[in-house]
Amino acid sequence: MEKSYRILFVCLGNICRSPAAEGVMRSLVQQQGISEFIEVDSAGTASWHIGKLPDDRMRHAGKRRGYDLCSRARQVQASDLNSFDLILAMDESNLQNLRSLDDSWRGDPKVKGFCDYCSQHEESEVPDPYYGGPEGFEKVLDLLEDGCAGVLKEFIDTNKKRLS
Ligand code: 4NP
Repeated sequence: MEKSYRILFVCLGNICRSPAAEGVMRSLVQQQGISEFIEVDSAGTASWHIGKLPDDRMRHAGKRRGYDLCSRARQVQASDLNSFDLILAMDESNLQNLRSLDDSWRGDPKVKGFCDYCSQHEESEVPDPYYGGPEGFEKVLDLLEDGCAGVLKEFIDTNKKRLS
């Protein structure tokens, strides 16, 4: 059996955007019945919140849309660059931080901005909701649902044979 496709979502704290991306993606993958083919995880570039559940505001906003956000925060590591097949950063600063993890990182195409996968939104970054109001968490979920659908579509299109 071929190994599953491993996707890592990265933000700053790993308590708002990236764990929500992980939850949205996992839910889409389960709905499609292809959980055996795709693994999802998330990590933060900072170490501040290691071991914590996602922020309550993110968990509540997710729960209202049917997502159970219950991962524990971890910090991204240089080895993640090898062990994942697709690494999606929520914003440009996350992308810069990923770059600085490994000197040999030379714009590997598997490491990119999450919003590259959005088709219904013009934004180029998923804005950090941490210091803002509740509308910021809804915006995060809107963008994540759009981009994760794009990630899923690309996976299905490029793995049609394997999935049929
Ligand atoms: P995240 O949001 O990167 O989407 O998890 C943040 C969480 C915590 C902090 C900043 C952003 N913080 O400053 O603690």
